[in-house]
Amino acid sequence: MNITVERLPEQELKPLFADPTQLGFGKVFTDYMFTAYYRKGQGWVEPKISKLKALQIDPAAVALHYSQEIFEGLKAYAGPDGRILLFRPEQNARRMYASAERLCMAPVPEELFLQGITDLVNLEKRWIPKAPGTSLYIRPTLIGTGDALGVHPADEYLFYVILTPVAAYYKEGFKPISLYVEEHYIRAAVGGVGNVKTGGNYAASLLAAAKAQEKGFSQVLWLDAKENRYAEEVGSMNMFFVFGRKLVTPNLGGSILPGITRASVLELARSLGYEAEERPIGIDEVIAGLQDGTLTEAFGSGTAAVISPVGSLFYQDQNHVIHGNQVGPVTQQLYDRLVDIQYGRAEDPFGWVREIGRL
Ligand code: COI
Repeated sequence: MNITVERLPEQELKPLFADPTQLGFGKVFTDYMFTAYYRKGQGWVEPKISKLKALQIDPAAVALHYSQEIFEGLKAYAGPDGRILLFRPEQNARRMYASAERLCMAPVPEELFLQGITDLVNLEKRWIPKAPGTSLYIRPTLIGTGDALGVHPADEYLFYVILTPVAAYYKEGFKPISLYVEEHYIRAAVGGVGNVKTGGNYAASLLAAAKAQEKGFSQVLWLDAKENRYAEEVGSMNMFFVFGRKLVTPNLGGSILPGITRASVLELARSLGYEAEERPIGIDEVIAGLQDGTLTEAFGSGTAAVISPVGSLFYQDQNHVIHGNQVGPVTQQLYDRLVDIQYGRAEDPFGWVREIGRL
């Protein structure tokens, strides 16, 4: 694949953010973006890296009216030995492919996905922050850009990748967050698109999240749509409940995102000698575990969130504190192991990390 690169003159490049630990999440963007178009009869054409700029898009584009939009999230890490590392990027490529098929979109071939990201990140390597807990977040996005208002799949697609240097996703940093167990709104139902990384799922979550935040909680824990009983996910992360040496996470029943960090935590936990179960877990079981002390910790997992400790659950007018609202030892151990592998500080017995260049 021949990717065209349109370089900017040195004096047009943006200055780097002064203090990477204050970056927050997704507020600063780099100089370049990757783009490629799918056109009917031609396939994927015009792969290009050029200046990051506003898109020109037809106001009738299918993405804008009927939400043919999917995205991914992964990170580039600066290894201590100067390697630029990605974490399981082929898993993101495959999940985006599956998302595209579910939404009747032209899937992005794995090679295009990986090559576009590799070349863009290498060109933008000065933007990979080196402070602890920071990384370069990569946001591949696919949108339907055809221009007719009948409800049908687009006949043109734009695949683009943008980059943003980031620190912690939550303003709390690596500190326990508070969750509001949502009983009124639902995020997704089995048979719908809850397991697809599409913007609509996130739009559907905004009102409940805003109401929870107004009440002082960080995020919402969603329950299943049918019985309003089983824990699902948090929207920005999958959930894990810790019962001593056993981890329980909701099974992939079709309504939650198949998280890559989730899958990695399961493997990592088992390799460290924990039992790890994927099964439906009722909120009644969670609350009972908190009341009798058998549920010892809870945390979320995600690319942006990494592993985020959960310090309390608010359910039916009662606040239930988890592990004294402190980071528990299991959460800490899994976090340390995972980030040491991601940043290339520890051996990677799983073969998860990909070196894509040097700083
Ligand atoms: C990610 O973790 O990469 C996500 O896409 C979640 C998003 C809400 C930030």
